[in-house]
Amino acid sequence: MNKILLKRATLKNIKEVADLEKLASSRTYSGRVTEDEVKKFIKNQFVFLIMNQGKVVGLVAYTIIKKIVHFNGLVISPKFRRLGFAKQTLLLVLRKISKYPRIELVVHPHNNPALVLYLSLNFIIESWKNNYFGDGEPRLMLIKK
Ligand SMILES: CC(C)(COP(=O)(O)OP(=O)(O)OC[C@H]1O[C@@H](n2cnc3c(N)ncnc32)[C@H](O)[C@@H]1OP(=O)(O)O)[C@@H](O)C(=O)NCCC(=O)NCCS
Repeated sequence: MNKILLKRATLKNIKEVADLEKLASSRTYSGRVTEDEVKKFIKNQFVFLIMNQGKVVGLVAYTIIKKIVHFNGLVISPKFRRLGFAKQTLLLVLRKISKYPRIELVVHPHNNPALVLYLSLNFIIESWKNNYFGDGEPRLMLIKK
């Protein structure tokens, strides 16, 4: 049974969030790695742990600034991938935020799993951003249609 619950992360969840971010960090996903970055992430954004049968399987994060929703993180722990958790999570969050006029995110152009997922949910590519996070890597800006 793959039903999920979203639980807002608090500073008590620093370890879980840091572990997920570390597991996902790569050339195509710039995770928060230091304790300070994780604390700021939890304090300044809506960060939710994705729970399944009492276990943390991933996280999703976004900000809402001036009516713009910006997704800032989506990670599923490697052992729980390809089970539909990311898609289910996005569908749940998208329902909650549907009233906002702009829903956006950036994704590395070589991040195939994420790109396929977002495009299947009616995100479209808006623009190309060189060196978006200052790590020398490009990103695509996607918006929800
Ligand atoms: C991207 C990510 C969140 C997807 O999580 P997931 O739970 O495995 O995704 P789902 O099982 O919900 O997949 C939904 C659909 O996305 C697409 N997809 C997911 N993983 C894929 C892969 N490895 N290759 C191709 N398509 C993939 C498929 O269309 C899939 O549907 P299907 O399984 O019926 O074919 C996960 O791979 C991850 O955590 N990656 C590292 C962090 C990251 O890059 N996050 C994105 C930040 S922009």
